[in-house]
Amino acid sequence: MLFGKTILITGVASGIGARTAELAGHLGADVIGVDVREPPQALASFIRGDISNAAGVAEIVQQLPKHIDALANVAGLSGNTGIVATLAVNFYGLRALTEAVAPRLREGGAVVNVASIAGYGWRANLERAKTLTAIEGFPGIESLAAKHGLKDDEGYPLSKELLLLWTMRAAHEPLFKERGIRVNAVSPGPVETPILRQFRAVLGDERVDNDITRVGRAGTSADIAPAILFLCSDGARWINGTNLATDGGLEASINASVLGF
Ligand SMILES: NC(=O)c1ccc[n+]([C@@H]2O[C@H](COP(=O)([O-])OP(=O)(O)OC[C@H]3O[C@@H](n4cnc5c(N)ncnc54)[C@H](O)[C@@H]3O)[C@@H](O)[C@H]2O)c1
Repeated sequence: MLFGKTILITGVASGIGARTAELAGHLGADVIGVDVREPPQALASFIRGDISNAAGVAEIVQQLPKHIDALANVAGLSGNTGIVATLAVNFYGLRALTEAVAPRLREGGAVVNVASIAGYGWRANLERAKTLTAIEGFPGIESLAAKHGLKDDEGYPLSKELLLLWTMRAAHEPLFKERGIRVNAVSPGPVETPILRQFRAVLGDERVDNDITRVGRAGTSADIAPAILFLCSDGARWINGTNLATDGGLEASINASVLGF
């Protein structure tokens, strides 16, 4: 279902993005990789670019072909560099890239956003998430953070809350909907990649170890990549605006504890 398809994947220099690019290639897709860092193994098609600002996004987009079948937004930061950088990469930059790429996505194409179980608080923080996703383009994030009293340690979960809410909204925005472009999210729990060490520093060992204990092990990039590529494929043609928990059962386990079933 991916044979001969052109898939744009961000974050290909490491972890989940690297594995997704590798698997997509094995499945016969033509992969265009994007990352701010050079991948350790050369890709047939790679654009070195920074999605954290409008100029960086524009530079990437001008190097893209006219026709793309799917976009997998995998690049992300852990939050350890502060809320400004984290919101810029994980939400506002991701969204700007997606909106700029949308006209090149074929009818019936797909967008897959890698969110996180860390973003499941969007319902509890709905008004904040609505306000922050309603801001168009690249806002001045420093002043935004000051205005809304946002703290550095909230950067990561907040960025993923915004991403989950926007995924649902985008699925119904004309830019995507009018051409049948599906927009979905994949939410991993803890995954063994370089970012996990940083999560331990941001969230604390106890939280991460508790999550891992609930499902027996941390995930691997190889656990997440097939879920991303399924949502990119035509096999997922009737799946739109949803979030696929790809966490070994972590969400179900937490729900069971919280809701008492
Ligand atoms: N590893 C986990 O435990 C976990 C859990 C839930 C969600 N996620 C999400 O999965 C995604 C991939 O994370 P990972 O675990 O593979 O981490 P990773 O650190 O291995 O990879 C992230 C990649 O994003 C790239 N990147 C960062 N800033 C960028 C920018 N400004 N422009 C372009 N590329 C940029 C990095 O260079 C890196 O190659 C992230 O969105 C992350 O939030 C990871």
